[in-house]
Amino acid sequence: MAGNPFARADSDTKVIAVASGKGGVGKSSVTTNLAVALARGGHRVGILDADIWGYSIPLMMGARGQAEVAGNQVLPLQAHGCKVISIGFFLNTERPVIWRGPMLHKALEQFLSDVQWGELDFLLCDLPPGTGDITISLAQMLPGADMLVVTTPQAAAQRVALRAGQATAQTGMRVAGVIENMSVFVAPDTGHEYRIFGEGGGQLLASELDTRLLGSVPIDPRLLEGGDTGVPLVVADPDAPASRVITDIAGQLATMKQSLVGRSLPLQ
Ligand SMILES: Nc1ncnc2c1ncn2[C@@H]1O[C@H](COP(=O)(O)OP(=O)(O)O)[C@@H](O)[C@H]1O
Ligand SMILES: [Mg+2]
Repeated sequence: MAGNPFARADSDTKVIAVASGKGGVGKSSVTTNLAVALARGGHRVGILDADIWGYSIPLMMGARGQAEVAGNQVLPLQAHGCKVISIGFFLNTERPVIWRGPMLHKALEQFLSDVQWGELDFLLCDLPPGTGDITISLAQMLPGADMLVVTTPQAAAQRVALRAGQATAQTGMRVAGVIENMSVFVAPDTGHEYRIFGEGGGQLLASELDTRLLGSVPIDPRLLEGGDTGVPLVVADPDAPASRVITDIAGQLATMKQSLVGRSLPLQ
């Protein structure tokens, strides 16, 4: 075992943990679309599905099959220009995963150390909701990781996300920004804007976590569809408003990365 390459001081990979207070706010949708947007921007991207119990990345990325082993390493699956690893590639049943803490820790360790990631510019980790064992384990294994917090505009969602953000900050991860998802629905026929899930939660959360609101992703029923067909919206329709917001956020992450690695790396 070569050890966890992402924990090395000279690692050039920006590790981004995508977190949320509760489930269903669009964390995995944001993770996949952001990853693909970064890949489309020419970056080398990996997605680590750390939502061991509720994994959804394989379906959303259209990545099917089992992970293959080469020597003592596991080969990630390739989808939409990204390397992907998920517990879903190691199970062949539809049964829920009921692993306990130490096994989860071991699985994450192997996802980092035993997977043939190669050189990556970004590793996006889709965390389970909240701040359980997995988040704490991952924070320990990835001391340099940045966190993105996804929330809906709703006050309640924002309060739960705040706890997640604060708890993660205690683990040493830095909160790099907030993404508000499902911010507005624009009626395709009239252009009228409906704020179905409330308003202002993203900005409020960003202020409370002392970070930036990186963008507000509108409601787009095709995001739902893309989640089921395995074609992320940024691929299906790169010009959709939701795709544009996500692509803009990807650009902001790329800029953040440059400002950090610019010291040691000649930028191309
Ligand atoms: N902006 C959006 N517009 C429409 N549907 C969305 C949007 N974001 C997410 N969804 C849908 O909401 C559901 C929950 O999203 P998901 O990414 O699985 O959330 P989480 O990972 O936080 O549990 C999915 O069916 C997804 O397709
Ligand atoms: Mg999810």
